[in-house]
Amino acid sequence: MAEWNQPLQVKQVTFENRIVMAPMLPFGWPEKDGGMSEKTLAHYLKRAGKGMGLLICQALLVSPENDLLDRAGAYKREHLCFIKKIADACHAGGTRFFAQLAYAGFDASGGGGRKVTELSTEKMAEIGRDFVHSVRLLKEAGCDGAELHCAHGSFLNAVHSPIENTRQDRYGGDLEGRLTLLKEIIEGCRECIDDSFILSCRMGWTETLEGDIALAQAMEKLGVEMLHVSGGIPADRSLDIPEDFPYNAFVYTGTRVKQHVNIPVTVVNDLQTLRRGNELLREDACDLIAYGRPFLADPDFALHAAEDPDYIGCRKCKACQFRTDGDRCPGPPARK
Ligand SMILES: Cc1cc2nc3c(=O)[nH]c(=O)nc-3n(C[C@H](O)[C@H](O)[C@H](O)COP(=O)(O)O)c2cc1C
Ligand code: SF4
Repeated sequence: MAEWNQPLQVKQVTFENRIVMAPMLPFGWPEKDGGMSEKTLAHYLKRAGKGMGLLICQALLVSPENDLLDRAGAYKREHLCFIKKIADACHAGGTRFFAQLAYAGFDASGGGGRKVTELSTEKMAEIGRDFVHSVRLLKEAGCDGAELHCAHGSFLNAVHSPIENTRQDRYGGDLEGRLTLLKEIIEGCRECIDDSFILSCRMGWTETLEGDIALAQAMEKLGVEMLHVSGGIPADRSLDIPEDFPYNAFVYTGTRVKQHVNIPVTVVNDLQTLRRGNELLREDACDLIAYGRPFLADPDFALHAAEDPDYIGCRKCKACQFRTDGDRCPGPPARK
């Protein structure tokens, strides 16, 4: 049982509080050569160290391959500079900083893209090495951890999914086989994951809660040190949520996973207010509470929520403007 403002220690990394800014790519703000534009950097610097225990930046690419959106990456030494700037700003304000990592071009949640069955065994191994290289760069840039993007139909999510991954080689087969690439990534990162650096996974749900629990436990066994639970493959699934559970299926899944693992679990999606997130912490249903759009609409969401736990940062527009051009976000509703 915890309160939002109680610290959490994972190895030698202390999170000053339990509020997390979830990873969010501001779509429509093109970057160049995998670097981060002044505009995107300013977006992060405006939020860094502003009252959250952990800030996780958008999925940075581990390689320029398949990048149709001109996204920022973490695959060249030149990228260390912007990552370091965000890390330093976070640390100056008492916030821990993770960067999320992803491999582009796969969207098994319905957006098209390539299939993991198209890749040769050697290519799979090469992508694994790209992840390891990026994790090393994050560590060098001063991040407190890396979050491997294994949710939302992303590449690693597809590799872990029995629906998408019907490969016949060592990267496919049963759950253990489908986690071979993750195992290789973790083994490759061993020497850079010390007590001051955390390896986390954003885990995507499976077809069933039993499948989610099995996946989470297998990830923990491989050495994943924190889990951030979100949607996966299939993108929609029917789930019997108790009628008196006042949160959605994403959060419910995270709370169920939490009961079956020994590593910290972050829940996310439509938590909206600090009061709602804090209830979950009090019930020991999770360890950290993540907010996405509230931080997009209001860079000071955590500071405002600390003053008023019912503060709502985001208007929940039908289509979030940050999915096309964040400049059009109307910002937070007027405060009472
Ligand atoms: C504009 C936008 C971009 C996003 N980009 C990412 C991303 O890069 N990686 C990721 O794992 N989730 C991404 N997400 C999902 C968020 O991390 C979060 O799970 C989602 O917004 C639900 O939380 P919320 O209801 O508090 O906004 C994105 C969400 C939005 C709105
Ligand atoms: S106010 Fe609207 S555009 Fe802004 S973050 Fe919220 S949903 Fe997105």
